[in-house]
Amino acid sequence: MSRHASEERRWWQDAVIYQVYPRSFADGDGDGVGDLAGLLARLPYIASLGVDGIWITPFQPSPQVDQGYDVSDYCGVDPLFGTMQQFDDLLAAAHALGLRILLDVVPNHCSSEHPLFRAAVAAGPGSPERKMFHFEDWPDRDTPPNNWQSVFGGRAWSRVDPSSETDTQWYLHLFSPEQPDWNWRNPAVGDYFEGVLRFWFDKGVDGLRVDVAHSLVKAEGLPDAASTTTVTDGLRSNAQVSDQEEVHEVYRRWRRVAASYSPERVLVGEVNLEPARAARYTRHDELHQAFAYAFVKLGWDAVGTELEAGRREHGASPTWALENHDVVRSATRFGGGERGALRARAGLLAILGLPGGAYIYQGQELTLPEVDVPLEARVDPMWTRGGVSRDGARVPLPWTVAPDNAFGFSPSGAAAPWLPAPAEWGSRSVEAHQHDGGSTLHLVIAALQLRKQLFEKEVLLSDDGGTWRVEDGGLLVCERNDQFLVAVAMGDAPVRLPAGDVVLSSSPLSAEGLLPPDAAAWVLRG
Ligand code: GLC
Repeated sequence: MSRHASEERRWWQDAVIYQVYPRSFADGDGDGVGDLAGLLARLPYIASLGVDGIWITPFQPSPQVDQGYDVSDYCGVDPLFGTMQQFDDLLAAAHALGLRILLDVVPNHCSSEHPLFRAAVAAGPGSPERKMFHFEDWPDRDTPPNNWQSVFGGRAWSRVDPSSETDTQWYLHLFSPEQPDWNWRNPAVGDYFEGVLRFWFDKGVDGLRVDVAHSLVKAEGLPDAASTTTVTDGLRSNAQVSDQEEVHEVYRRWRRVAASYSPERVLVGEVNLEPARAARYTRHDELHQAFAYAFVKLGWDAVGTELEAGRREHGASPTWALENHDVVRSATRFGGGERGALRARAGLLAILGLPGGAYIYQGQELTLPEVDVPLEARVDPMWTRGGVSRDGARVPLPWTVAPDNAFGFSPSGAAAPWLPAPAEWGSRSVEAHQHDGGSTLHLVIAALQLRKQLFEKEVLLSDDGGTWRVEDGGLLVCERNDQFLVAVAMGDAPVRLPAGDVVLSSSPLSAEGLLPPDAAAWVLRG
């Protein structure tokens, strides 16, 4: 098979995907919440970045308790976001622009409003309906069946009806009580989800991002967890709900489903595990990719030291991401202010040059910082249940310098945006970046153009391995192959780069040709 043909088959291996959090991307209908119409209108902007596709977080019908991650109908569109016709139009328009579309599938839990959960509640203890979820009896009606904690705080169990004398069952929810967990040990659940996958694949959706992919199957018998201390990272602290061997069977089945389509559909897992364990989810007959998850939480110094380990252990095809809708924006995480912004630019340029795929979270191309959303405006259930707030990474995108209509997020006359924007948002807007030749937006566009050219010239290849080293002065170097390397200045003083042509850098080189601290460069070697 020619190289070209094999690349077509494996486009996802080095795809750069733009993550759209639809409620904060663009508001088409003026209700203050982003939607599919807004996304459709702004599709040319995404295409102009030069990315290969879009991952859209959930827009399916949902009571919105967890901003859409509480799904009540996996095969629909919530009226808040639009209609199925609008989704079909969006898919066609994206494909016409050469953009692939990945959707989010949330198989660990649904909404307590999902018809199958409602049916289970109605059918009562012992019914087959209840076996679709984890309903448990417990002799002491005031004590939950085990000590598991919810990721969002508090216990992971709720009574079906605390006032009932006859129905004393509890049900499991790793997240909020409005998000009951499916029972993946019941084959009927697997059959149900195969239908969900096929529904979207039949429409022509190119792939799925799998939410909480490592937690679907719980330990047999639901034994107590060894520790109940961590609230915010509850899955990692509880081995009984994480990385059970049987979960791999789910992905083997899903891979067969994905492979039955032409072109093959792609599965990307949110596998929040150590890299060596996460790598097991991307064996040849399971998921295609898993996010190098650790990076979305790391601070700047750790990014340098962990990059190499991540590459080595993530196996097949690493999928780099420094941000998503769940974590503190990298400009803030990397120290905040001017320095944090420089590092965020550098980190983004670095991951766009590394072997593998990369994800850009909307607004990362604008180096948006985390917003300190006023307490009374916060809505994230993680926050309202006592944990950290993720609202600060979800503030609607600023499109215009002028503050009108939530900085261009909404049409004129619209309701207030669902999260308020800070006063300086306009200076960080798309418009401001477009007018500044040195902006991060221009850097991303240049990087993706160059990346494409380097692939066309076969300077970059999908199967580049990459070797890593840290040079004197804290220069982290990934030698992707003998023609191309990525370097990141992690130290406190400007450093000399390895010999070659600097084709792109996140900050200007010094007069002596040194790379300043907190900057990254792409170097072509002769
Ligand atoms: C994933 C999502 C997050 C959501 C959680 C529960 O981690 O990214 O936003 O709250 O799953 O569905």
